Amino acid sequence: MASITSNSPDQTRELGRKLGRLLQPGDLLCLQGDLGAGKTTFTQGLAEGWGSVDSVSSPTFVMVNLYRAQDGTPLYHMDAYRIESLPEAAQIGIDDMLAEGALILEWPERIEALLPTERIWMTLTHISETERQVEISAHGTRPETLIQGIGNW
Ligand SMILES: Nc1ncnc2c1ncn2[C@@H]1O[C@H](COP(=O)(O)OP(=O)(O)OP(=O)(O)O)[C@@H](O)[C@H]1O
Ligand SMILES: [Mg+2]
Repeated sequence: MASITSNSPDQTRELGRKLGRLLQPGDLLCLQGDLGAGKTTFTQGLAEGWGSVDSVSSPTFVMVNLYRAQDGTPLYHMDAYRIESLPEAAQIGIDDMLAEGALILEWPERIEALLPTERIWMTLTHISETERQVEISAHGTRPETLIQGIGNW
């Protein structure tokens, strides 16, 4: 597991950018963090790195947002916060999303039982006004390769 400290919103965004450039269809990135931890900030960078032509907004009400790369490949951005039950979550079709594109999932702990085991799990923790602890663990061969690809961050 990698653990780093981000000292600013820009650093968190840059981390997202780095990962976004490496992300490919089939990749699942679980993003855990309390209110204001920096999930949206990170996701903005991720979408940028992905080459998104769409802008990032909170998926809390629509539950899934779509950010398309130039060639149309989707990066899905899902928020499981409001999901009430696992059957409800199953209808959302996580496997279908991963067959087409990459997925970043906020509040993944709500639907953990439904998630593929191959995933990156990332936790953002509020340390001080400008500091956030970023912990990243990779589960599976592809996630491990992806994390190594980020190099010295
Ligand atoms: N190192 C940092 N990384 C990320 N954000 C930071 C950092 N330091 C300060 N911030 C500030 O913390 C806030 C993070 O907000 P953001 O919307 O990204 O969090 P969130 O996890 O999406 O919150 P919510 O759960 O309410 O949607 C922003 O105002 C940002 O400027
Ligand atoms: Mg947010």
